[in-house]
Amino acid sequence: MIRVTLPRFARFEAWRTAARDLASARVLPGAVTWADPDSPPDLFGADAPPPPGSHQVTATQDFLQLARQVASHSDPERWSLLYAALMRAQTDRRFLSNPADPMLDRLSRMAKSVRRDIHKMHAFVRFHELPSDSPRRRFAAWFEPEHPILEAGTPFFAKRFADMDWLIATPEGIARFTGGAIDYAPPQPRPDLPDDHSHDLWQTYFANIFNPARIKTQAMRSEMPLKYWKNLPETRLIPDMLADAPRRVQAMREAGASTAPAFAPRVTARIRQPLPDSAPTTLTDAASQAARCTRCDLCHAATQTVWGEGPPDAPLMIVGEAPGDHEDLQGRPFIGPAGQLLRTTMIQTGLDPDRTWLTNAVKHFRFTPRGKRRLHQSPDGSHIQHCRWLLDLERRLVAPRLTLALGATAALALTGNRQPLTPRRGRIEPALDGGPVLITWHPSLILRLPPDRASAALAQFRADLTQAANQIA
Ligand code: URA
Repeated sequence: MIRVTLPRFARFEAWRTAARDLASARVLPGAVTWADPDSPPDLFGADAPPPPGSHQVTATQDFLQLARQVASHSDPERWSLLYAALMRAQTDRRFLSNPADPMLDRLSRMAKSVRRDIHKMHAFVRFHELPSDSPRRRFAAWFEPEHPILEAGTPFFAKRFADMDWLIATPEGIARFTGGAIDYAPPQPRPDLPDDHSHDLWQTYFANIFNPARIKTQAMRSEMPLKYWKNLPETRLIPDMLADAPRRVQAMREAGASTAPAFAPRVTARIRQPLPDSAPTTLTDAASQAARCTRCDLCHAATQTVWGEGPPDAPLMIVGEAPGDHEDLQGRPFIGPAGQLLRTTMIQTGLDPDRTWLTNAVKHFRFTPRGKRRLHQSPDGSHIQHCRWLLDLERRLVAPRLTLALGATAALALTGNRQPLTPRRGRIEPALDGGPVLITWHPSLILRLPPDRASAALAQFRADLTQAANQIA
């Protein structure tokens, strides 16, 4: 039996070196024990260097990334598991791309649990300010993670709080960040940390964002599991806030709606343009009114209204959901990836994009900002309702012989029917204004499906577009 003792810190790198040497000598997983510095000496004695190896050892980047995460798991078997996986991968690499493989499944679940713990560490470390006689402020925190994640979890704080000196103590060890460099030290007894003014501020903030009318204790517990509560100053407030919630909700009800401040009408007047006295009679007038539409809040974040386009006497109208990122920036419908798929399929099935009116049920892009990206969000029922006047206008002025509804939002806006799409796809339903509506998939759905399901959906989409071409021929 070969015993390998891993150091307290930089343990993954040490495991990696030892595992490579052992695998190169084709030492079987059952012939190695992996020990921590605190492990008692075992029956098999002290560490011995592995026998010299001559085999080449390979590991993919994906495996190394997985192994690095698993290395921060608290399971004492993690090192032998990882070594067994490394050895297996030398002869059977395919198991690493088979999610149903029990070994890969176990490792993936361990990695997931570590990632979750790191995420919680980033959210739940609470620093206490300490006196400082240097220009840099000093902070300390105590945190009890589920797994030994000190080294994996603390570089985040070095980036986020680069301009202060801090220390995070855990039962596993201490991370110290001084003068811009991070180092690690063995554990010490839990320090007594002073309560400071930032905790009062934090508690005030927490109490103010607590909405007594929207209590979801399940969601709260899954976001902020109980095991972390004892080190979070704000959680002391939770029992009282929960107990007081019914009284506060009752008081809110009795107080009724508050009156708008005096300046509200001026702000509203500035934001909301007056509605036209009479409905536009040409598509050009309709487009210019659409460009000024402020009937719902989507207009504030979107770049511009994306009005429909095509010839005014188009026999076919195609209605999508709402403009996406590309459409919003360029002000034209269906020019992004879903639009490319639509236009290509139209040509393949004999539909001429230049003889079609292309538009959307909702004319403004809806998104949530994520860093620099804008993540698409589907419009909801109220957006569809607010935008209906534009769709109605467009339909009255273009008066197509057939309308093709792409996806559930368009189908709902056109027919008022919110039933699931699967049984309705490929069928014709009456529009709210009377014309025929052929229902089909939205091309962006096809783009999101896994390849095996996408090809079936694409075949159906083609068949529906062919049906539309035959109807208007
Ligand atoms: N998806 C839609 O529904 N409409 C567009 O214009 C682009 C993507």
